[in-house]
Amino acid sequence: MSSQKTSQYWFDHYQTNLLQKRVDWNLIPNLTNDEKEKVIKSIQAWQLGETSDGKHLYKAAEKYTKKNTDELYLKSIELFIKEEQKHGENLGKYLDLNNVERIKHNWGDTLFRKVRYFNTSMELWTISVITVESTAQLFYKSLKDATNCVLLKQICRDILIDEAYHIDFQVERMQIILQNNNYLIRKIKSVFYFLFFIITSVIVWFANKKVFTAGKNDFGTYMKKMTLKYRKTLGRKKNGI
Ligand SMILES: [Fe+2]
Ligand SMILES: [Fe+2]
Repeated sequence: MSSQKTSQYWFDHYQTNLLQKRVDWNLIPNLTNDEKEKVIKSIQAWQLGETSDGKHLYKAAEKYTKKNTDELYLKSIELFIKEEQKHGENLGKYLDLNNVERIKHNWGDTLFRKVRYFNTSMELWTISVITVESTAQLFYKSLKDATNCVLLKQICRDILIDEAYHIDFQVERMQIILQNNNYLIRKIKSVFYFLFFIITSVIVWFANKKVFTAGKNDFGTYMKKMTLKYRKTLGRKKNGI
């Protein structure tokens, strides 16, 4: 498809983006007790989630690349994983500065790690990354609006810039993967992917309700925004599903 970018484009993008320093670490965090009560638990959970070593995703990409002889795609995935780890590290530093511990376990993370462990398909990886990153966009936007802490706002803004590219990167891969499927298969898949997207969205809402609410969302507006995100990514007609 002509609108698709090449793996060279993504590799260059991730290399350049990794060098960008958008957070001023000389700033001192200044959350009020009330703000802390709303956001800290979620920051701990997302910090853990963003810190994965990416081993299983890398393996799936390696297997996929062998069949498709796209070495630069694998290298781009490697840099993509590094960028996710940067998010985890930044959130971790923020917790350290607030004298709050970095957690090691969380039910959502354990569940997602189990799913990741058994997942060796690039297609399923791509669909789950698009889904989780769509919720991440609303989460970090809400977190940015939830407090007056400039340092936290900068961390969120930096992640939001990265995530927009991550979604484009994965949506494009989804188009490439699905272009070999016939119409019926794509239609059947679209039902499951939409359900997965919606169920995940609901789980993420309940796990981070205080942040979403502090970011001026209620369940209705949140689900509306998530549905719109689905339509703009996986549900877009030209994406083939
Ligand atoms: Fe991330
Ligand atoms: Fe991401």
